Amino acid sequence: MGREKIRKLNDVHDIPTITKWSTRTKAIVGGSIATAVVAVIIVAVVPPVVLLSQKQASTVTSTQASTVISIYWCLDTLTSDSSNVYIGTLMNGATYFSTTSSQPFVAYGQGLSLTSSSSQYMTIATPFVDLTYKSFTIETWIFSSAAYSGDSGIFGQCECSSCSNQCLYLLVRGTSLYAGFTLNDISGSSTLAANLWYHVAFVYNYDTKQQILYLNGVQDAIKSSASPYQGVNGSINIGSTLVFTIRNYFNGYIDNVKLTTRAKTANEILTAATLAGYYSFDSPSPYNDNGPNGANGTQNGAVIVSGYVNQAIRFTGSSSYFYAYGFFQVGYAVYASKPFSVALWINPASMTSSTIVQFSWSLTSSRCHNLMGLWSNTGINGQIVVQGWAWPIIIGPFISTGTWTHVSVTYSFTNGLTLYVNGTLFGSTGSVAFSNSGYITYLQLGYMYSCTSNSITNNGYQGSVDEVYIYSREITQAEVSALASV
Ligand SMILES: *[C@@H]1O[C@H](CO)[C@@H](O)[C@H](O)[C@H]1NC(C)=O
Ligand SMILES: *[C@@H]1O[C@H](CO)[C@@H](O)[C@H](O)[C@H]1NC(C)=O
Ligand SMILES: *[C@@H]1O[C@H](CO)[C@@H](O)[C@H](O)[C@H]1NC(C)=O
Repeated sequence: MGREKIRKLNDVHDIPTITKWSTRTKAIVGGSIATAVVAVIIVAVVPPVVLLSQKQASTVTSTQASTVISIYWCLDTLTSDSSNVYIGTLMNGATYFSTTSSQPFVAYGQGLSLTSSSSQYMTIATPFVDLTYKSFTIETWIFSSAAYSGDSGIFGQCECSSCSNQCLYLLVRGTSLYAGFTLNDISGSSTLAANLWYHVAFVYNYDTKQQILYLNGVQDAIKSSASPYQGVNGSINIGSTLVFTIRNYFNGYIDNVKLTTRAKTANEILTAATLAGYYSFDSPSPYNDNGPNGANGTQNGAVIVSGYVNQAIRFTGSSSYFYAYGFFQVGYAVYASKPFSVALWINPASMTSSTIVQFSWSLTSSRCHNLMGLWSNTGINGQIVVQGWAWPIIIGPFISTGTWTHVSVTYSFTNGLTLYVNGTLFGSTGSVAFSNSGYITYLQLGYMYSCTSNSITNNGYQGSVDEVYIYSREITQAEVSALASV
């Protein structure tokens, strides 16, 4: 971590000769669509008594079906949920991790820090959350600094650990996700590694009788004909589950736990897992993150003006910028060569060469990367320019002042950087590594810092920016088109 490649790229006029891009049409696999669907059909012999109770209970609950309960534990040194109703207790010395180091960290604030050998977890004893005979979704972020092994409990509620469908658990079993209601379980297929944040989700859809596991927003396993959960009492435990007679514990960090009594869609879960930030610059809180993480920003020397969609942010050159913190997976963040995407509308007022998008790991140092800017050698016309670390670059098309242009940059190791303008593929660099800082990063719009190691001109952008989306995955052409046709 902290790996730095310092290159001096002084002569901007060299750029076109080094640019290497192709306009071939590629099938970009952004990981958004699960291709492997594992359907496990279990034909269970259900005793008549269970059928009876199922029938009675569904009659009762059908009248309450419209009441959706959403509970959110931010775990930012708080045991209470956002409504202050479901208040937890930290068990056996469970604590919160600090945010002073580069990681662990998700979005903002803090999260639970648990040591499994000390049997640490958080418990919410009252009020009871009734998940019986209904759909529900459990979502959270997890991080382990040691390799996963055995059972690592994430979320549970249990009436009777030896009775079918009366004990709910979501855990990592070995190195894969695992969930179920007891004798009615689902196993994930992907492998979880140490030292990474994962978004994990477990959905039970009462209408379709499906259990679905998602890892980083992508379906990891699906099971049909799954009976509903029927546990009528028991505390909710975060960081511990009971599987038959064995209570197991999570070793590492858990953050932002959400429980919702409806089956969230695949799209909602993909957004929760991979929309790292969304800045619409709309009133009344124009600098807030409208994405799932609440990574609100702030600005200096910028103003809110009429935008492409509602309001936009307008920069006036030097000392005019916007920034927000909390990006685990973008170019130059914690790990090298992880996929990400940035999409935005720009409306330049001047074609002077300038920086529009930067990432940096500190606000007190110029250890930063310029991802996107304008490049102009005549002062009249300007071209969009995007750049990896530090090469290669793509010199895009000429764009106009006073006109809204949609620009999307996607990255994966396999495809390298890809530039889309107005929703149309312009070019790709081909496979290339992207360096990391080892830190959670800031996003900067406009020019905040002079970045020493790349060739986009360190100069203040003059013009507007609107509808900025940051993803921790390589979005597809179809998604780019959708963003550009708003
Ligand atoms: C949960 O409900 C079952 C069945 O009614 C009962 O036997 C058990 O004692 C209850 N447990 C608790 C902790 O209330
Ligand atoms: C961002 O703003 C929203 C809305 O005002 C607020 O609920 C949320 O807590 C804020 N996030 C942070 C990190 O302050
Ligand atoms: C992008 O779209 C705008 C608005 O339709 C248009 O004026 C502009 O010429 C387009 N730019 C490019 C490079 O296609």
